[in-house]
Amino acid sequence: MAGVEHPGTFQLNATRGADYAVLEAREDLTADYVKYIVRNGLNGMPPFKPTVITDSELDELAGYLGKAD
Ligand code: HEM
Repeated sequence: MAGVEHPGTFQLNATRGADYAVLEAREDLTADYVKYIVRNGLNGMPPFKPTVITDSELDELAGYLGKAD
């Protein structure tokens, strides 16, 4: 889902600009970075524990978003 009504998209659009707002459209994210942010959170983004997003789900998600690898 993409759109400025989503908190991450809204925040990234405001602080870094439209080119950074939609994660699916980004070419600069690595899988390791996506995994780190999901497990640790970032400012207004909460961390997600393995009980919520499993390691294998996160591998798939990070592989999908991590186009810079
Ligand atoms: C599993 C789903 C999610 C993934 C994969 C994800 C991934 C990311 C990544 C990789 C960044 C950093 C982008 C960058 O450094 O340029 C980010 C930032 C952010 N995310 Fe998420 N996110 C998710 C869910 C959420 C949720 C549920 C929220 C809010 C409730 C959220 C709020 C934010 C915010 C506010 C930022 C900007 C932080 C800042 O730069 O100050 N995210 N997200």
